[in-house]
Amino acid sequence: PFIVTEACIQCRYTDCVEVCPMDCFVAGPNFLVIDPDGCIDCSVCVPQCPVQAIVNAAEVPPEQAAFVALNAELAKAPGWTPIRQRAAPMPEHARWAEVPHKRHLLQR
Ligand code: SF4
Ligand code: F3S
Repeated sequence: PFIVTEACIQCRYTDCVEVCPMDCFVAGPNFLVIDPDGCIDCSVCVPQCPVQAIVNAAEVPPEQAAFVALNAELAKAPGWTPIRQRAAPMPEHARWAEVPHKRHLLQR
């Protein structure tokens, strides 16, 4: 499957969600993930993301490897809900888009 990585945290632009033919995206407080059980590897979501947060799990950069399991876990987590329509990005998304290390800010 494809997965969402660290760059999405505190940005959550949601440009990705409407193009998914399988409605795979699941949103939490300041991040969203792809449900690996639904993803058909079509890749149409990839170019939609302004911060290049979406990658193929089979080609994930080593420093983002933990996000493979995180996408699977959070897709089923209590309080995380499917998102199919674009929403406003997070406040201060432009500033956060420049921040490389923000994993510790991920809210569940
Ligand atoms: Fe949806 Fe395709 Fe992206 Fe998978 S790769 S999340 S099926 S748009
Ligand atoms: Fe996140 Fe990029 Fe989608 S920032 S919400 S993966 S468009």
